[in-house]
Amino acid sequence: MHMSGEWGSGYRELHAVYDRWQGSYGMDYSRRIFPKLVRTLARHRITPSTAVDLGCGTGTMVLMLEREGWDVAGIDASPGMVAEAERKAAGCSSAARFATEDIRTFTLPRPVSLAISLYDVLNHLPSVDDAFRACTAVRRALRPGGFFVFDLNNDRCYRRLWTREETIGHPDFTMTLANSYDGQEGVATSRVQVRFKDGREDLDETVLQRCFARKEMKSILAQAGFEQLEAEEFAFPGAPWAGRLKTWYVARVPQ
Ligand SMILES: C[S@@+](CC[C@H](N)C(=O)[O-])C[C@H]1O[C@@H](n2cnc3c(N)ncnc32)[C@H](O)[C@@H]1O
Repeated sequence: MHMSGEWGSGYRELHAVYDRWQGSYGMDYSRRIFPKLVRTLARHRITPSTAVDLGCGTGTMVLMLEREGWDVAGIDASPGMVAEAERKAAGCSSAARFATEDIRTFTLPRPVSLAISLYDVLNHLPSVDDAFRACTAVRRALRPGGFFVFDLNNDRCYRRLWTREETIGHPDFTMTLANSYDGQEGVATSRVQVRFKDGREDLDETVLQRCFARKEMKSILAQAGFEQLEAEEFAFPGAPWAGRLKTWYVARVPQ
C-alpha cells in the first residue's frame, strides 16, 4: 500500500484518482467555481492578461482561463498533479506552463496581473507564518495593481464536513475519507483510502488542513503588502443547503 501525508507535501498519491474523484461529485470544483471567478474579475474590471494558478492541481482551471484568453501558468507542490496537468494540456494543444513548486517559495520569470488559488489550497499550509510566506511570494509575483483571488474553508466547514466518514463509490475504485477536526488547534485531518477494483495497489494518504480565521487572514495579507478588497463567506457552489462554509478573498497589490 502507498502511504503518505504530511504538512505542505501536496498530494503525493491522490493525483492518480483526483479528476475521477472530483467527477464523482457531479462536476469538479473548478467548473463549479468558474462563474464566481468570472463575476469577480468583471466586478474589478480585470481583463485577460497574464495569470498564475497556485495549487493548480490537475490544471482544469488553467485550461478554462486559457480558453478565455488568459496567458496562464500553473504551479503545484505535487509532481503527480503537475504531470497530470501537463498531460491534459498536451491533449488540447494548450500553451499553458506548469511547474512543481511550493506556494511559499515559488518565483516567476515575469510578474503577472492575476494570481488565483482555489479549492482551499492555502488551508494546506500549517501556520500563520507559512501563509504569510505564501502571500509574500504571491505579492512578489504580481505586478503593481495585480490581484490575488483565493478561497479558504472556514471553521463552519471543518465542523460540518470534516467530522465524519464519507465513502465515495466510483466504477474504478472506492474512496473512504475518515475526517476529524481539532477545533482548539484549528487543524483538520482527512485520512483518504482508495481501493481499486482492478487489483492495483491501494492508496492511503493523509491530508491536513489549517483553519485561518478572517481576522488572521486580514493581518497576513496586510503584512505581505496587500490591500484586502473582499472577504465574503459563501456556500459551496452546488450545495447551498450546507451553508456558508467557505470564504472568498480578493486582494490587490497597491499601484
Ligand atoms: C484541493 S486540491 C485543489 C487543486 C485545484 N486548485 C482544484 O481546484 O482542483 C489542493 C492542491 O493544493 C496543492 N498544494 C498543497 N500544498 C501546496 C503547497 N505548499 N504549494 C503548492 N501547492 C500545494 C496540492 O498538491 C493540491 O493539488
